[in-house]
Amino acid sequence: MRVPNHIAIILDGNGRWAKKRGMPRSFGHVKGCENLEDICEVAKELGVKYLTVYAFSTENWKRSKEEVDGLMKLFRNYLKKCIKISQKNNMRVKVIGDITAFDSDIQESIEKLEDFSKDFTDLHFQIALNYGSRDEMVRAMRHMADDLSSGNLSKDEITEEVFNGYLDTKELPDPDLMIRTSGEERLSNFMLWQLAYTEFYFTDVLWPDFNKKELIKAIEYYNGRDRRFGGI
Ligand code: FPP
Repeated sequence: MRVPNHIAIILDGNGRWAKKRGMPRSFGHVKGCENLEDICEVAKELGVKYLTVYAFSTENWKRSKEEVDGLMKLFRNYLKKCIKISQKNNMRVKVIGDITAFDSDIQESIEKLEDFSKDFTDLHFQIALNYGSRDEMVRAMRHMADDLSSGNLSKDEITEEVFNGYLDTKELPDPDLMIRTSGEERLSNFMLWQLAYTEFYFTDVLWPDFNKKELIKAIEYYNGRDRRFGGI
């Protein structure tokens, strides 16, 4: 089985998973978080080198205060716990997205985790937090505009590679496989630039139930696709 070098996942369906069990949505997020820990281990075990997950979008702030507060609590705990997990999995962790919107303690935890795990090499794990692809591209363009006006960059130097270097995902290869759980078949503003040639896999399985067997199914689907390199 050919294992994709980079897998991107839109984690979806925590709320419905909890509702089916008569539980609050926050319980679904807790289970979703536990599942993410398992999937990181499985990905590493299978030989995936890059894993990027969409955990909190620029749109997610519109959810109820109760739900957003619950997610912030979950991120706080997870980011601390992830120090140990990164060591156990020899996993480098990076956050993509505009983290300036988070409380300063969350920003500090992110910096600490990124710094602690920077030399780990088995799995490169990216967590998209307050991420939106359009926002990422606008931030990149502002940064480019600064470099143009300061003379660090000239108009003729702008190429796809140069633009890519201004994105949060600079230094990462593009995803080979994108998975979205829970039956939705949209990109929801996730890595629009980076997914240009990626294979998509959609499944009805809700994120907390997306286990090793389901990941292998997705990889088998990817293997069945006729990848025409250098084409469309
Ligand atoms: C989608 O389910 C999930 C989210 C918006 C949050 C994702 C968060 C986690 C999986 C928690 C763990 C992540 C980290 C990085 C700690 P949904 O609420 O949209 O579900 P629904 O579509 O069924 O309502």
